[in-house]
Amino acid sequence: MIVTLGRGVRPRALHIWTRRYSNGIEGVTYNNVFYPPDEYTNIRSSILSHLGRNIYLQKDHPIAIVRSLIEKHFGSSFVPITALPPIVSPQQNFDELEFPLDHPGRRPSDSYYLNKDWMLRTHTSAHEVQVFRSGIPKWLLSADVYRRDEIDRSHYPVFHQMEGARVVEPSEMEDLRKENDELAQSLAAVNIQVEDVSTIGEKNPYQPWHNPDHAKLVNDNLKHSLNGMIYALFGGLATHKGKGPLQVRWIDAYFPWTSPSYEVEVLFDGKWLEILGCGVMQQAALTRSSVPKDNVGWAFGLGLERIAMVLFQVPDIRLFWSKDARFLEQFSDGTVTQFKPFSKYPSSSKDVSFWLGEREVHENDVYDIVREVAGGLVEEVKEVDRFTHPKTGKSSRAYRVTYRSMERTLTGEEVNTLHNDLGLKLIEAFNVQLR
Ligand code: DAH
Repeated sequence: MIVTLGRGVRPRALHIWTRRYSNGIEGVTYNNVFYPPDEYTNIRSSILSHLGRNIYLQKDHPIAIVRSLIEKHFGSSFVPITALPPIVSPQQNFDELEFPLDHPGRRPSDSYYLNKDWMLRTHTSAHEVQVFRSGIPKWLLSADVYRRDEIDRSHYPVFHQMEGARVVEPSEMEDLRKENDELAQSLAAVNIQVEDVSTIGEKNPYQPWHNPDHAKLVNDNLKHSLNGMIYALFGGLATHKGKGPLQVRWIDAYFPWTSPSYEVEVLFDGKWLEILGCGVMQQAALTRSSVPKDNVGWAFGLGLERIAMVLFQVPDIRLFWSKDARFLEQFSDGTVTQFKPFSKYPSSSKDVSFWLGEREVHENDVYDIVREVAGGLVEEVKEVDRFTHPKTGKSSRAYRVTYRSMERTLTGEEVNTLHNDLGLKLIEAFNVQLR
C-alpha cells in the first residue's frame, strides 16, 4: 500500500520566473503556486530543476533499491510513504520538532528558502508530526531533501533520506516485550557485533513524563529494530569480504525532538561510517500530532546516498543523477551489485580569486553559483585562500574548482568557457572584483 498525504500531488517540474527581489534572485512559481521573493529567497534554477526528478522512486535506481530493501526488511506493517512535495514551512521543518530559534540550520546560508514562509525540507523529519497526526502508527517515509553545503564527491545539495517511526500504545507494551526478545534472539544468531557506548543519563535522559518501563521497551525496540535493519543491509557485505562480524556502534547524540538520542555507525573498510540518527520521540512533538500522551514512540532518519555509495561502491554522488545508460543499466531492483566504472575521464582544476565588494559572501553562496554555471560538471570546490588586506581592509577569497564529467572528456575550451562564465556570474551576483 502506498499512502499519499497532504497535497498528494507528485511535484511537476513547472517553474516560471517572474518577479525579482533586490538580491537578484527571482520569485518562483511551482505547481501553480507563486512564492513572492523576499530577503530569504535563495533558490536558483540549478536546484529547482531537481524538484520532481524523483530518482528514489525510479525502478532499478540504486537509491530506490536501498529504499525498497529497507521497506522489505521492515515488512508490510510499516506503511511506506512517498511523494510528499519538498516545499514545507519552517514551522514543519524546525518548530514542530522543537528546534531552538537560534539553530544554525535555520539560516538562509544553510538552507534553501523560497521566501521566509516556505523552504525546501532539509530532512524527512519535517513530516513526522504531520504523518503521526494522520494516525499511522508505523511508517517509513522517503523523500528528496535539500541543503546548502560544500562541493565534493560525497556532497550534493539534493539528496535523499528515509525516516522511519513507530508509536506504541500502553496496551501493546507486553507484545513489544515479546517482540524485543525475539529480535534479540535473531540478532544473537547472526554475525554482528554491536558496541553500545551510549550512556543514558543526565546528558541524554529518558523523559521524566514517560512510564520508565514503557520508555525502556520502546528504546530497546528501536535498538533491536535498527541493528536488524543494518545487518540486513550490510551483513552480506561484511561476511562476503570474510572480515569477521559486522561491527556497529551506538553513540550518544542530540536531536531537539528525541530523548534519548543516538547516532549509529558501521565499520566499513576500517572507518566508522555514520549511518543514521534516531531516538525516543519527545512527547511534546508527539502531542502536537494528537497522539495520546501515554503512547511512546521512536524515530530514525538515514541518508540513502551514503548507504548506496557504500553498498554499490559508487565513487561520486553525482552519478546518482546520471541519465547515462552505462550507469543506470548496471542495477536492478532487489539486488546489490558493485558499480563498474565505465571510465574515469580527466579532470581540470582552475582557480578563481576575487576581492569582495560591500557585501559579505558566504562560501555556500559561491558554491551555488558554481552549481548554477557548471551543474553536474563540477566535482569539487575548495577554498584555497582568504585574507583581509591590513591597510585597505579589503577582503579577498580564492577557490579551486575541479571540473570533471562523469560521462565524457571535457575539452579545454569547454572548461575555459565554464570558468569564464563563473567569473562573470560571481561579479553579477556579489559585485566582486576578479583578481
Ligand atoms: N533528521 C536528522 C538529520 O537529518 C536525522 C534524524 C535524527 C531523524 C533523529 C530522526 C531522529 O527521526 O529521531 O540529521
